[in-house]
Amino acid sequence: MTPQALAAYSEAAQCFPGNPGSTHRWGRSSREALDNARKCIYAALNFSDGRLLWTSGGTEANNLVLQSARSRGMRVLVARNVHPSVWYATGASPEFVGALPLDREGRIDRQYLLQQLKSAEPVLVCLSHACNETGIVQPVAELAEMCRRGGHLLHVDATQTVGHLPLDLEAIPAHFISFSAHKFGGPRGVGGLLVREAPLLEPQVFGGSQEWGLRAGTENVPGAVATAAALEAAQESLPTEVPRLRGLARGLVGQVELAVPDALVNSDPENGLPGLVSFCFPGTSGHDLVLELAGWGYAVSAGSACHAGSVFPSRAIVSMGRSEREALGALRVSLGGASTETSVANFAQKLLSILR
Ligand SMILES: Cc1ncc(COP(=O)(O)O)c(C=O)c1O
Repeated sequence: MTPQALAAYSEAAQCFPGNPGSTHRWGRSSREALDNARKCIYAALNFSDGRLLWTSGGTEANNLVLQSARSRGMRVLVARNVHPSVWYATGASPEFVGALPLDREGRIDRQYLLQQLKSAEPVLVCLSHACNETGIVQPVAELAEMCRRGGHLLHVDATQTVGHLPLDLEAIPAHFISFSAHKFGGPRGVGGLLVREAPLLEPQVFGGSQEWGLRAGTENVPGAVATAAALEAAQESLPTEVPRLRGLARGLVGQVELAVPDALVNSDPENGLPGLVSFCFPGTSGHDLVLELAGWGYAVSAGSACHAGSVFPSRAIVSMGRSEREALGALRVSLGGASTETSVANFAQKLLSILR
């Protein structure tokens, strides 16, 4: 947690001991703190025509939308590079689920989507604002307009972009937008779903009538207050952090491309998620690279997944047209507030010495 979030959490935990569902004065002040945190999130994201439902994070927010569509038998079109919390919540029935292909830049194939949206029955389109593996950002404002024009619903998983890119949700008329607090320096286990049209939603957690009857359970007041503080601090840093991280990412890509001519870059340092760089080093193992770099004190990740002793290439990277061999050599590097030109140059040197 950032210092701002930690201080807000600690203060709220001490000052608001009441259950926000109680009518006594301690309960009422907790309710007020919870609602003020909601208002801070609305202000930070310029969201004024819906409401925020607190959840335990991005996974639960995504599941709430997908499971609701599933239980109502609504057809879902899901981008091939979404996070597992969307992909595996769709259910496997081909009758109700379609996958949206991506182009070689990792963007949704608009012609294909337009064709699908000709369906008279409303569908739910689900996509990641920025892919967690490549950082490629989708033109969500335009896609939301496309969906609305045909009377369809759009769910945007903005877990990677809230707090990392300046967002004006007024310009993004999606019906559902999910986020997660730990991605921008807030507490783990807190997130939310911004909802413009609630009729689709059905509770997945039953009990009390909290969160408009859509999510039972005593609300996490300190978590919500800390999330709002973290987002405010993150937003303040964006005007300087976005160009700084993009500059560092450009430098890293430049050094790698110069030294490893067959390296493939899966991300877009200019317009993608600031600081996220994904490479494919064909013929190498991303997992081996992760282990070697960890030995030097670097925390990076491979795109592929290990399961029962086998390694599977990343769905997100294969969906951009990479071969299995290329995708197995995927490596994702996330630069952040502590990254500097020197630390990135040192990292690049180490990576290149391993690849040689
Ligand atoms: C795009 C995306 N969606 C959802 C999630 C899940 O969020 P949480 O960890 O809060 O459940 C993540 C986490 O990495 C993510 O990157």
